[in-house]
Amino acid sequence: MAGVQSMASKSILPVTTGEYHTICSIPVSTVHNLKPGLNFITVNVAIDQRDTSKVVRLLVYRNDDQSLTVCRNLCRHNGGTFIHDIEDSAEIVKCTFHGWKLNTKTLNYTNPPDCLKQEQLKIEIQMDGSLTIFEPLRYEPWAVNEQQMQSLKSNELTITYISHACVEIQAAGMTLITDPWLTGPSFGRGWWLLHEPEADAYERVANANAIYISHGHPDHFNLPTLRRIAKMNPHVPIYVPRLKVNVFSNDLERLGFTNIQITQLGTWQTLSKNNESCARFMILPDHLFPHLDTFLLFEYKGHRILNLVDCCNPNGDHLPSPVDVLLTDFASGASGFPSCFVDQFGEDKVLEMAKTKAHTFLKKTTKHIQITKTPMWIPFAGYFMEAGPGDEQIQQLNWKNTPESAAITLQARIPHLQVWCPFPGGKYDVGSNTASTPSKTKVDYLKRSWNFEPYIRQLDESMKFKPLQTMDGVKEYFRWAEFKNYDLVLHIIETSNNYSTTIREYFVDFAGSAPVFPSYYPPGRPLFRIRGRSSVFRDTFIRGWSWDNIYIGFSGHFFAEPNTYHFKFWDHFNNSLPEYPPSWKGDHHQAC
Ligand code: FES
Repeated sequence: MAGVQSMASKSILPVTTGEYHTICSIPVSTVHNLKPGLNFITVNVAIDQRDTSKVVRLLVYRNDDQSLTVCRNLCRHNGGTFIHDIEDSAEIVKCTFHGWKLNTKTLNYTNPPDCLKQEQLKIEIQMDGSLTIFEPLRYEPWAVNEQQMQSLKSNELTITYISHACVEIQAAGMTLITDPWLTGPSFGRGWWLLHEPEADAYERVANANAIYISHGHPDHFNLPTLRRIAKMNPHVPIYVPRLKVNVFSNDLERLGFTNIQITQLGTWQTLSKNNESCARFMILPDHLFPHLDTFLLFEYKGHRILNLVDCCNPNGDHLPSPVDVLLTDFASGASGFPSCFVDQFGEDKVLEMAKTKAHTFLKKTTKHIQITKTPMWIPFAGYFMEAGPGDEQIQQLNWKNTPESAAITLQARIPHLQVWCPFPGGKYDVGSNTASTPSKTKVDYLKRSWNFEPYIRQLDESMKFKPLQTMDGVKEYFRWAEFKNYDLVLHIIETSNNYSTTIREYFVDFAGSAPVFPSYYPPGRPLFRIRGRSSVFRDTFIRGWSWDNIYIGFSGHFFAEPNTYHFKFWDHFNNSLPEYPPSWKGDHHQAC
């Protein structure tokens, strides 16, 4: 553990100014008052972009040997602040946003367990006994080769909303489309589009100068939509981030796309072939899921449009500032927690938790608006509905913010903030700061019916897949999945689509170096139970797809004993499964 060996010693850590920068200084009087164990320290600084109240909040743990372990009081999940809960041991702090817990001595998160580590800050003792605190230099690749701000003509730089997280950014006639989801469901059968895209939506996407796909979730990387686009124009340039796990190019190639740009994060991409255009964009990483999730900075004549998509912790909250327009999600309700935990908490508690979560969600948005100093916020990437047959309970319990309610909350917190709540075909012009007005009422833009049948039929087809009709196939799947050495017993209860009939159930124990399948629950072991749709389970297993379809797609009811969020389990089955699906001896399935 790095830290101060003796409070009287001088600098004990080399400080490389090329890699670290000073974030604050702890005065000598405060240093002398540090007590053994945990200390909450707040330091006033002139400017700190990560904390708009212009203070730096630190957690300082004084160890038995007098060394110090120092980190920011800033949760890795969504940037919440930690407090000490008297129920916890002395070195544990709890996040005020969603309750994650951090051991301030080891800097390991303890809830969720076995997952993340908090970044340790470097310290240097000055001659007068004060402490200087350093952290790695901020990753700000957009600051290289900055554009000169120039005035814009009317309609020279515009944003047109298409659906959900799909917008068209147009600069001087060049267009970039983000995350096209125009048809069908996402996450198995869980999410359905709330808006009906305009009739020209496919033409806009297929004829764009660039399509950006932020991450692999199907409401952003939507295969039914992309299949149709590939038929219309297989040569349209598609920009996907270069990530540790290649979640895009296999499927894009299979669909027939010929111009797939696997793009290095933090590098400018221009929108013209001859590089003469000054419309450019950059893909940037999320900090909580750097191997998975990204966001977009678009720049034209020095004007910036920042699209944070639905990142949890975009670039560790090091964001460009100021930006002209900020697009973020707003709704909350984009996962199975808490709406799929009725078995654990009961309906009333789940609804109460969902309302709290939706309210808390806007703290993240508030922070990002303040950091980026944007005058204009566009709520998007939350226009979906749990419309599928059998999901009426989820629809009722999965409480979400509306764009209008979010606007009221945020404008009360941030004076002078302008908000444009978009509608299909609606356009915002950055230069004139004007938005088109809808030609019909808000309700008339909402979808009233969905074509469920072909998608649900396709999922139901998985029940005919012979290998998974026996436990041998189930065992083959879990061996393929390679999740192991984690103290958890998974209890899967496969049910009919409306959950009324149990089709089969089994246990999987992950404690050893390979999964084992006990015929009963081993008493006393941590348990996680999923009572879920058999068709969705089997379709997910056959294709080797992420369990997002089950968890985010609301196709299961969950119960944990003890009540723990098994981040490591979910991170594996949602995000880290092998790149290629199980081979399924002799049975072939089309992944697309
Ligand atoms: S638990 Fe800390 S921000 Fe969510």
